Amino acid sequence: MTTLQYQTGFGNEFATEALPGTLPEGRNSPQRVAHGLYAEQISGTAFTAPRHQNRRTWFYRIRPGSLHTPFVQVDNKHFHNNFDERPTTPNQLRWSARPIPTEPTDFIEGLFTMAGFGGASGGSGIGIHRYAANRSMTRFFYNADAEMLIVPESGRLRLATECGLLDIEPQEIAVVPRGIRFRVELLDGAARGYVCENFGALLRLPDLGPIGSNGLANPRDFKTPVAWFEDVDGDFELLTKFQGNLWSARIDHSPLNVVGWHGNFAPYKYDLRQFNTIGSISYDHPDPSIFLVLTSPTDTPGVGNLDFVIFPPRWLVQQNTFRPPWFHRNVASEFMGLITGVYDAKADGFVPGGASLHNCMSGHGPDQATFDKASNADLSKPDVITGTMAFMFESRGVIKPTAQALDAPDLQHDYWKCWQGLANNFRKP
Ligand SMILES: [Fe+2]
Repeated sequence: MTTLQYQTGFGNEFATEALPGTLPEGRNSPQRVAHGLYAEQISGTAFTAPRHQNRRTWFYRIRPGSLHTPFVQVDNKHFHNNFDERPTTPNQLRWSARPIPTEPTDFIEGLFTMAGFGGASGGSGIGIHRYAANRSMTRFFYNADAEMLIVPESGRLRLATECGLLDIEPQEIAVVPRGIRFRVELLDGAARGYVCENFGALLRLPDLGPIGSNGLANPRDFKTPVAWFEDVDGDFELLTKFQGNLWSARIDHSPLNVVGWHGNFAPYKYDLRQFNTIGSISYDHPDPSIFLVLTSPTDTPGVGNLDFVIFPPRWLVQQNTFRPPWFHRNVASEFMGLITGVYDAKADGFVPGGASLHNCMSGHGPDQATFDKASNADLSKPDVITGTMAFMFESRGVIKPTAQALDAPDLQHDYWKCWQGLANNFRKP
């Protein structure tokens, strides 16, 4: 695999060209663009969004994005935003990993909608999907509904996008902004992972408050592609997700034809292993907000439409403390996945590629084996948690499982039993 070049920083005003002299000097929209290119702006926020939140990019491309045949609706029964198919269960839910398909399946075909709420038309909510694929896309896709947070669990992906090439491997994540056209190539022949569509405000780095000016995900560890293009004619499919449905058009050239671009609306990736993990060095288990990587804020201060949280390797040193997460109930809803290793609050059953969902006020926490172990652990020594990476999509909204997720053979119908052995240990003094 060739090592790709990236630009570093989060939300920076990038400028990049694959051919020298492409970017116009002193103008965004010159009368004539160098090399016979067209100028095209893509706006990721309202024109009038505050400057520090405003996102837009100028493309200088071989042909503009308006060239394709009319879209026709196509089947999307596995990849959708229908979150009200069933009454939402308050039960704790957990799924095993999904198998890699045996039929030829590309990234889009391999998306399987698990849960979510809201949608693109309301500008809030999330859609959570798992993917399992075994062939590279030969077509192109853009999501008009949401930015897509991609979390690989196995198999490296190459995201060939309008802004350039982005390679990600498990324990890295990528965000493809709304509207950006791309193709997913599988670098290892098969791939599996998670996708969160964010219908709300764009993901951003959280404020650090009393943590100070450093910590958690550092801006310089975010990587954005440099300009790259293909000047290819042919008969291709252009697929889009619009208002929860899939639509297909024909396009007689690759839309990945941007020779140069400048702006701050572009795909990016981040290596979760770079996360600067902060935690307690005295007592108590901090809330998982201390592990917040990216957040999509709402109009309510401090309350997320989507909080992307990880549980990375770390040292636990708290004294007179139950070190794993205690039992809890939460007004927010929690969808978790595991990328590698073992999650420290569960002894078994929560596997890489699997998932769990604990919705608003549903009680959950350590299983019995973990409770027994952590209650009797030797706290004079640190617990050094290595070789693991779990994550959570957390939201203020109730994350409603789809009918296909509730009917899936990988749903663990006995998950509730992992707490049933917790005995009544109460002793009246
Ligand atoms: Fe939880």
